[in-house]
Amino acid sequence: MIRIQGGRRLKGSVEVAGSKNAALPLLFACLLSDDDCHLTGLPDVADIRTAARLLERLGASVERHDPSSMTINCSGVDQWEAPYDLVRTMRASFLVLGPLLARFGRARVSMPGGCAIGARPVDVHLSALRLMGARIETVRGYEEASTDGLKGAHIILEKPSVGATENLLMAASLARGSTRLENAAREPEVVDLARALQKMGANISGAGSSVVEIEGVERLGGMTHRVIPDRIEAGTFLIAAAMTRGEVTVKGARAEDLRELVTALESAGAVLRDNGDGMTARCDKRPSAVNVATAPHPGFATDLQAQFMAMMSIADGASLITETIFENRFMHVSELQRMGADITLSGNSALVRGRVSLSGAAVMATDLRASVSMVLAGLAGDYQTDVLRVYHLDRGYERIEEKLRSLGADVERVDMEGPY
Ligand code: UD1
Repeated sequence: MIRIQGGRRLKGSVEVAGSKNAALPLLFACLLSDDDCHLTGLPDVADIRTAARLLERLGASVERHDPSSMTINCSGVDQWEAPYDLVRTMRASFLVLGPLLARFGRARVSMPGGCAIGARPVDVHLSALRLMGARIETVRGYEEASTDGLKGAHIILEKPSVGATENLLMAASLARGSTRLENAAREPEVVDLARALQKMGANISGAGSSVVEIEGVERLGGMTHRVIPDRIEAGTFLIAAAMTRGEVTVKGARAEDLRELVTALESAGAVLRDNGDGMTARCDKRPSAVNVATAPHPGFATDLQAQFMAMMSIADGASLITETIFENRFMHVSELQRMGADITLSGNSALVRGRVSLSGAAVMATDLRASVSMVLAGLAGDYQTDVLRVYHLDRGYERIEEKLRSLGADVERVDMEGPY
């Protein structure tokens, strides 16, 4: 567990790791080539190790130079199955479907199932791949897919799904003919994937807008690519600075990726500065209440909703937080309530009446972002908080307690028996 003695103002400078959500599709994009792919700037988190393990199970060679760089070679891939034990722990494993189909014409990928934040179906991925000529059947919990060769298609996504956009970018890069993808996700991680695919020889235009065109090529080569910094980790530290009335420089925070959060933090009374290679957040007073509603990029990121709610629970005034991406992404609410937060849930909105202070408690969360919101709530006031089940944090935040300590927080990891 992580034990936090809160009430300290965070001060100093911290560097964010590479983006987990950008790195995962990049690792699976290596399946599209026989040549070496060198990835640097990888975050040292559990999900990246899971993705590397999956590649190895498929027959790839994965050479780790240090925790942040790997060379992957997929010329030896002779398996096409992403098994349940891996997909269950990391839904993003589903991203092997597009590359495996495009390259080998077959794939067997476990259906991810539900997760703590909602049903999370994969229908958008599947119907688009079918349009490209894939035959896909559900057999005993697995999606079994095959094709005699993917072909380009005109695809209008029902939702701008990040994962579906990524699966399709990879599949279409090696398909015959051209693909036009409408209502595509515009997240920076999608753009990073497109850049890496272009380095491999893919012909992609429009990534980052809602219409992406891909002209398939016969083969893709290797690449050397540095993963973009993690905008969610960056946003988490900016919120931590504002919540503790501190001043923190977050190296790697990119203003253009965090526009909605920056606006919300400024409305709450924080002062944000763009330093070119990062951002600084300062806050000298209790944050004011601000309403936010999550939306696909460039809207307010759902992955920052729990953290922002932690801040609103100590803000001056009442705020309305609306979640429009996931159906059940309020698992943190009951834990914040155990810390004394005044939150009323109604459908997909939470009315948060800010309190001057919360109180410490032992809390646990069922997903990554909910867990970090507990950590933030723990930092904000003069009480002790124990955050259990830190394996969720370890899936996505690199050395979080060390980084917080370097900013002056009193945070320690306490070993406990069992899966805490
Ligand atoms: C990615 C991120 C995750 C983030 C999410 C939304 C990774 C590894 N994860 O997840 O951190 O919270 O984007 O920004 O990058 N949907 C369907 N059918 C589908 C696909 C999605 O109904 O076939 C729904 C989902 O249930 C969800 C919404 O669309 O309600 C958005 O999902 P999607 O953008 O696909 O999220 P992920 O790619 O899974």
